[in-house]
Amino acid sequence: MKGIILAGGLGSRLYPLTRATNKHLLPVGREPMLYHPIRQLVSAGIYDILTITSTDHMGDVVQCLGSGEDFDCKLTYKVQEEAGGIAHALALAEDYAGSDQICVMLGDNIFEYSIEPYVTAFRNQKKGARVLIKEVGDPERYGVAAMDEKHILDIEEKPANPKSSFAVVGLYFYGHEVFDIIKNIEISERGELEITTVNNFYIQKGLLEYSICHGRWTDAGTFESLFEASKILLENDNRILPH
Ligand code: DAU
Repeated sequence: MKGIILAGGLGSRLYPLTRATNKHLLPVGREPMLYHPIRQLVSAGIYDILTITSTDHMGDVVQCLGSGEDFDCKLTYKVQEEAGGIAHALALAEDYAGSDQICVMLGDNIFEYSIEPYVTAFRNQKKGARVLIKEVGDPERYGVAAMDEKHILDIEEKPANPKSSFAVVGLYFYGHEVFDIIKNIEISERGELEITTVNNFYIQKGLLEYSICHGRWTDAGTFESLFEASKILLENDNRILPH
């Protein structure tokens, strides 16, 4: 399995912090934000990792992460020229992924525990895709999963009236067919290629599995959530807890 870290976008909700640097280089606990997804993927046995980021401060990203040697992995980089959405960024990974399974992590997502069990679950999954969900108090900020006892029925991106309190977390697993799916989805009303559209496609085909996220999780894309992410990681000295 290969790892893809998506670290493009504008970081506009963190302005003016993101005037001077890329959002994913801001400190979370004791380290730059991007250290966390790299450490998470390595904790799950994924050593080939592609980081996709915007042109803004790309040099700083490479300077900060290097070849991957410090993390015991191999890092490759790609540029997303415009913030066209999460699925738009993911499409850039097609050649890198080849025929391998992929684990996609949003560069601003922080997990208290290792993602290893979810990676193992997908390694054992024969086909389709896998997402992670987590019960939250403010689901309207996220992609929200409508569920029955066994399945996700539908995912709505930032709904005004959420059908559940389960947010879809920024960790996704796909087979190589995902790149053909992205080629056929439409741009959303907010002008992006949405990962939620991709996941809904898998739901319609009966091919989306899920795990429930264990322990604390947050994004770090707003001032409040950046603070929460720092709190979680500082409490554990930026270590990722084993299950
Ligand atoms: O954090 C989980 C949530 O992330 C999900 O529940 C949502 O379904 C998903 O759409 C996403 O929502 P956000 O509004 O938080 O996404 P945001 O635009 O902040 O982007 C999150 C990360 O994705 C960002 O840190 C970098 C990457 N990204 C984003 C865009 C728009 C890219 O690499 N390229 C992009 O063009």
